[in-house]
Amino acid sequence: MDPTTNLPTHMTMQSDLDALKSEAPSRVAAAASLDELADVEAEVVGKRSPIAEGRRGLGALPEDERGEAGRAINEGATELGALIAERRRLLEAAAHRAALAGDAVDVTLPGRAPNRGSTHIIQQVMDEVVDIFVAMGYTVATGPEAETEFYNFTALNFPYAHPTRLESDTLYLDYGDTPEEILLRTHTSPMQARYMEENEPPVYLVVPGRVYRADPLDPTHSPVFHQIEGLAVDTDITFGDLKGALEHFAIEFLGTDARVKFIPHYFPFTEPSAEMHVWHGDGWMELIGCGMVHPAVFEAVGYDPDEVTGFAFGMGADRLAMARHGITDMRHLFDPDIRNLEQHQ
Ligand code: PHE
Repeated sequence: MDPTTNLPTHMTMQSDLDALKSEAPSRVAAAASLDELADVEAEVVGKRSPIAEGRRGLGALPEDERGEAGRAINEGATELGALIAERRRLLEAAAHRAALAGDAVDVTLPGRAPNRGSTHIIQQVMDEVVDIFVAMGYTVATGPEAETEFYNFTALNFPYAHPTRLESDTLYLDYGDTPEEILLRTHTSPMQARYMEENEPPVYLVVPGRVYRADPLDPTHSPVFHQIEGLAVDTDITFGDLKGALEHFAIEFLGTDARVKFIPHYFPFTEPSAEMHVWHGDGWMELIGCGMVHPAVFEAVGYDPDEVTGFAFGMGADRLAMARHGITDMRHLFDPDIRNLEQHQ
């Protein structure tokens, strides 16, 4: 600037330009990002830069100096513009490489398979058992786990004073004022009564499901376990049919070398009653409770005991799963630790 006229003189303009040309390259080179470069660009060649100011001041110069000064400014602008463009190219290339690296997929890495889960071994056993009976012509039904005392006990010929009706054995639910006690079914047998009430004979039925008893969890007991109920009702079903069906089941489920035996037992809803035991290498295992449907049960559901006969059975799925997988502690079946279950897929 000329202090007297307040106008840039050729001399000060030239020295501003020189200063700019000497310091600008290092500032351009120091711009570490495209944003920083844009700031430097504004300062160096933007509207308020010495270059722009020099151009604005050209008109105030004596005419004979204008041409030279203009050329010097343009030259400086071109040089600096080229420096900035080169720096921008480098920064853009670096940004591009960084973006690519961030997106990179290493196709040689092994895949990460999602955990698809699998069917619990108790459910596997129930599915298999049901399949074996379905192949013999049985239908499948399921029923409520919260059951009335009538279907769980009374319709099945349990006397009113039977000890398993007690709270020490059976888990009762508190629904307030209900016409009947509601409980967690202690077996799948109530479905015998429910199904016969709704369906005419003949009946060939299997019922897989969860049942409950007032037992603490220990190696051989669980308050919740699983049964598969069976019921066959027709005009002339005999105990021989019962044995034939269950022996066939044992061979299908355990293999052709399966050994079974029937020993007398007692259930209120079957007469005669039996237990089927299966040999499992080092001893007999009680597997199935069974018997011929008691006439009192037929009467309770409106069937004529002079017209039809039938057999029923119930087996524990948990016990079958344990035997199959060599599990000796029932608590493993209900352990939520996935590794425990994965051992047995
Ligand atoms: N419900 C009996 C039990 O839980 C098993 C059974 C079912 C017995 C059907 C005979 C007939 O032990």
